[in-house]
Amino acid sequence: GSVRQQVSRLLRESLHVSLQPVAELDPSVVDVEPLVAICNPRFGDYQCNNAMGIWSKIRGKPSSYRNPNSIGQAIVANLPASTLIESATVAGPGFVNLVLSTSYIAQRLDQMLIQGIGSWAPVLPIQRALVDFSSPNIAKEMHVGHLRSTIIGDSLARMLEYCHVEVLRRNHVGDWGTQFGMLIEYLFEEFPNWEEIGEQAIGDLQAFYKAAKQKFDADPAFKEKAQQAVVRLQRYHVAWESICDISRREFDLVYKRLNVTLEEKGESFYNPYIPAVLEKLSEKGLIEESDGAKVIRIEGVEYPLIVVKRDGGYNYASTDLAACWYRLNVERAEWLVYVTDIGQAQHFDMWFKAVKRAGWLPVNDNDYPKAKHVGFGLVLGADGKRFRTRSSEVVRLIELLDEAKSRSMQGLVERGREGEWTAEELEHAAEALGYGAIKYADLKNNRLTNYIFNFDQMLDVRGNTAVYLLYAHARIRSIIRRSGKNIEELKQIGTITLDHENERQLGLHLVQFAEIVEDALAEFYPNILCEYLYNLSEVFTKFYSNCTVIGSEQETSRLLICEATSTVMRECFKLLGITPLERL
Ligand code: ARG
Repeated sequence: GSVRQQVSRLLRESLHVSLQPVAELDPSVVDVEPLVAICNPRFGDYQCNNAMGIWSKIRGKPSSYRNPNSIGQAIVANLPASTLIESATVAGPGFVNLVLSTSYIAQRLDQMLIQGIGSWAPVLPIQRALVDFSSPNIAKEMHVGHLRSTIIGDSLARMLEYCHVEVLRRNHVGDWGTQFGMLIEYLFEEFPNWEEIGEQAIGDLQAFYKAAKQKFDADPAFKEKAQQAVVRLQRYHVAWESICDISRREFDLVYKRLNVTLEEKGESFYNPYIPAVLEKLSEKGLIEESDGAKVIRIEGVEYPLIVVKRDGGYNYASTDLAACWYRLNVERAEWLVYVTDIGQAQHFDMWFKAVKRAGWLPVNDNDYPKAKHVGFGLVLGADGKRFRTRSSEVVRLIELLDEAKSRSMQGLVERGREGEWTAEELEHAAEALGYGAIKYADLKNNRLTNYIFNFDQMLDVRGNTAVYLLYAHARIRSIIRRSGKNIEELKQIGTITLDHENERQLGLHLVQFAEIVEDALAEFYPNILCEYLYNLSEVFTKFYSNCTVIGSEQETSRLLICEATSTVMRECFKLLGITPLERL
């Protein structure tokens, strides 16, 4: 568990003892959970904020506590003995300030260097989660919204995996919507013999889609036919599969560049389950007729959730209901996480409420299984409008990624790396920098806000960018190399001491890594981890400018501090989907 989890454990025990004498005054004090926060460094490392809340429950009743401060005193007095805490003091109205013992921090670092950073992983109360992310629509362009979903979803999946949760990485591709009637009808009209020509008839799927859409908008008779075609989709299965395959290959190019793995179960997968799932909801009395359609009314929302359209067809919502049932009952996931733009918040809110009413999810949001919509804002161009290319077309992700890579390559060449490195090394570094820059520029923002896509900014070596951080990491690797010491050997025989103020500050920041992952996962905000990583590089810089490493008396300990820093940085990169480099 994390340091904060260890501190909480001690406080829980102390609270238990401290609250014994007042338990009969207010039974709810018995299950008070420790409130632990990071403390202003002038007063300590952590702070326990329970005393004031407890006081408000028992004030005015006869007890041995006269004020919140006396409760704070009791919390301090009843802390079990441990090697963790150096000192505990009460401040002001009852804040308990805790100072960690420096040797405990050092030991935790020593232990991590030997057992690996996985030994720090926070404990989550679940075994399996499902992250539904990326989820582009077949035949349509995979746009920057899908890029965001892919990057954010992948990072969240990695964090859950770090916490030893099995993650079902689900690609809920749109392979069953209205676009298929249009595409298939167009295919049949333009190429009556298309089965003989094969995929070449479709050629460039994006252009093909555009042509079909043009006809769909211009020709009402075609539109009518296309719409009927959706209902008869089953008959067109072979054509459907071909289109899916072309699209899938295109999506895979993006996933490969981003090093993201996903398992596809598209909308069509759930289609056979819909009737039975709607039947279950109907038995619970959730489904009503309205205007020829079948709907679920949601309290507090003006429009009901349509689950069967007037033409008898199913829709996005019915598919999500069936998918939810499948994920909970067949796949037995305990946390369903949906990563899409915030425009879909209402959709998820509505059907989450519906399945809570059906009893599929607990009413109390703290209990598992849980469902969570992780929404995100828009990617904007320099003009502050939706990100488009110059010709105002949707941006092709492949081109975007390739441009980031080639700009990074150019930067490496300018820095003279062409002569020093092999072609493969250059290629590898350009990809790490370019793709890493795009990912970090996305993840470092609060996901709810819109951000402006800007190559110059994200590839800047100086700002808060992946490029800056990758350089900072490579510099630490080079310190270790330049020492000429065998670091694996040092890990076994050496130990860390944190005598200098900047050493302790860095050590404390390092051991707080695990609780940062916890915080980032609590409401699914990867920017919390980015901020931690950026601060880590700053704290390291302070250490490195005030503490001589190579040739100093404390060389072994300080090299191990460098090693611990680079290990934590590497884990951050990994959780953000960024590839660290040994040299740059
Ligand atoms: N295909 C949808 C889109 O492109 C996203 C699907 C998200 N997942 C879900 N279960 N609804 O917007």
